[in-house]
Amino acid sequence: TKKAVLGPLVGAVDQGTSSTRFLVFNSKTAELLSHHQVEIKQEFPREGWVEQDPKEILQSVYECIEKTCEKLGQLNIDISNIKAIGVSNQRETTVVWDRLTGEPLYNAVVWLDLRTQSTVENLSKRIPGNNNFVKSKTGLPLSTYFSAVKLRWLLDNVRKVQKAVEEDRALFGTIDSWLIWSLTGGANGGVHCTDVTNASRTMLFNIHSLEWDKELCEFFEIPIKILPNVRSSSEIYGLMKAGALEGVPISGCLGDQSAALVGQMCFQDGQAKNTYGTGCFLLCNTGRKCVFSEHGLLTTVAYKLGRDKPVYYALEGSVAIAGAVIRWLRDNLGIIKTSEEIEKLAKEVGTSYGCYFVPAFSGLYAPYWEPSARGIICGLTQFTNKCHIAFAALEAVCFQTREILDAMNRDCGIPLSHLQVDGGMTNNKILMQLQADILYIPVVKPSMPETTALGAAMAAGAAEGVGVWSLKPEDLSAVTMERFEPQINAEESEIRYSTWKKAVMKSMGWVT
Ligand code: G3P
Repeated sequence: TKKAVLGPLVGAVDQGTSSTRFLVFNSKTAELLSHHQVEIKQEFPREGWVEQDPKEILQSVYECIEKTCEKLGQLNIDISNIKAIGVSNQRETTVVWDRLTGEPLYNAVVWLDLRTQSTVENLSKRIPGNNNFVKSKTGLPLSTYFSAVKLRWLLDNVRKVQKAVEEDRALFGTIDSWLIWSLTGGANGGVHCTDVTNASRTMLFNIHSLEWDKELCEFFEIPIKILPNVRSSSEIYGLMKAGALEGVPISGCLGDQSAALVGQMCFQDGQAKNTYGTGCFLLCNTGRKCVFSEHGLLTTVAYKLGRDKPVYYALEGSVAIAGAVIRWLRDNLGIIKTSEEIEKLAKEVGTSYGCYFVPAFSGLYAPYWEPSARGIICGLTQFTNKCHIAFAALEAVCFQTREILDAMNRDCGIPLSHLQVDGGMTNNKILMQLQADILYIPVVKPSMPETTALGAAMAAGAAEGVGVWSLKPEDLSAVTMERFEPQINAEESEIRYSTWKKAVMKSMGWVT
């Protein structure tokens, strides 16, 4: 017998840089009923290059959906209660595929990838008009981080891509587009679309007019015909064409950081959240105004929850390496076997003993935007051991957050009184306490850290034609909050932070 459920269910794909997840929530309480997670391989074919296999990513989504449905079955929950699916994804990562065969024409070029550094340098010499050309239209600095230059590289260097464009077979997309196109039928009628939040990370999208920008496409020499249709973040894009959830509408789509903003209910001007994933991203809702930063933050589309709904914007502080430093300690140095072990190591010593770790593996993002930076570990003595390095890695995540919070406070004028956080790493209690100590404000985390997926599920459930989620706080009754108060004194916090800044200066200028 099938168990009665409290209300309609909504599923969400969270396709992050490190892993894919599928989660199913009860739309009346936001209770997480079941989920499944699969780690994604990253390839580093050359120094600074980061690639992933788009087919492995797609396969991981199917696997997570199937396994989650199996788990729901074991709980006697009928999967026909799943009324909608939302997609949230690592942003900027660039895929080009053949619309007739459904085959990717190259690996996905991941957002962290640095191969386009010389492309960026060359383009910045030819910016038309004033230096603000790209930023004023997109809210973004000209950087290797965003999709336009990755796509430019693919068009310049991959024969298969060039040929497919000539023959009108090429489609471009960020991971959301690739997944939605594939899940809604692929070569047999798949829907080629993206949402405004993902489009705003391509460096081709005008965040004022909410359209692909012809001048930008000309500047980057991108054929507009290969770009997806831009839709709102909450509407029915198409139906699942295969698998256990065949026929269920896909009706939510948000870049993962926007999804987390929605999942944390940061709907008011001035509300902010920080998500700890592979990188770390602090977004502050600026309402219906585009606010331009004077301190190295990005202006980005926060969400547009419905075709006829207004668009909201956010200021964003982006940190490239957060959880990725833990994975590096596991995979490259082998000092931990699982990511969770870092907490044990750090706890053994409770201090970095003067060791500072700047994980500038992909240069430094906000607030510096310094591609010449590379990672350093400094302040070592013969006393330093792997536990201190583990501690310094956790501290690095917190110091980087402090830098973007400071920038945010300066841009917004009103300092944040506390920081709402989420993401897998927030399960690490040492990290959360360190974060409160280093920011010197309370850190507040939800009991269920998968806020990214929750936001995508909320957008999907609220879509016109689905209508099972109201986006009111009472629909999140299953989510409780935990608070971490600063425990060290402000002076100690400042001393540590200023030493960190010294270390950051040393990390710059390693590559020319
Ligand atoms: O901009 C990159 C970001 O979307 C990646 O998120 O969760 O994979 O660190 P995550």
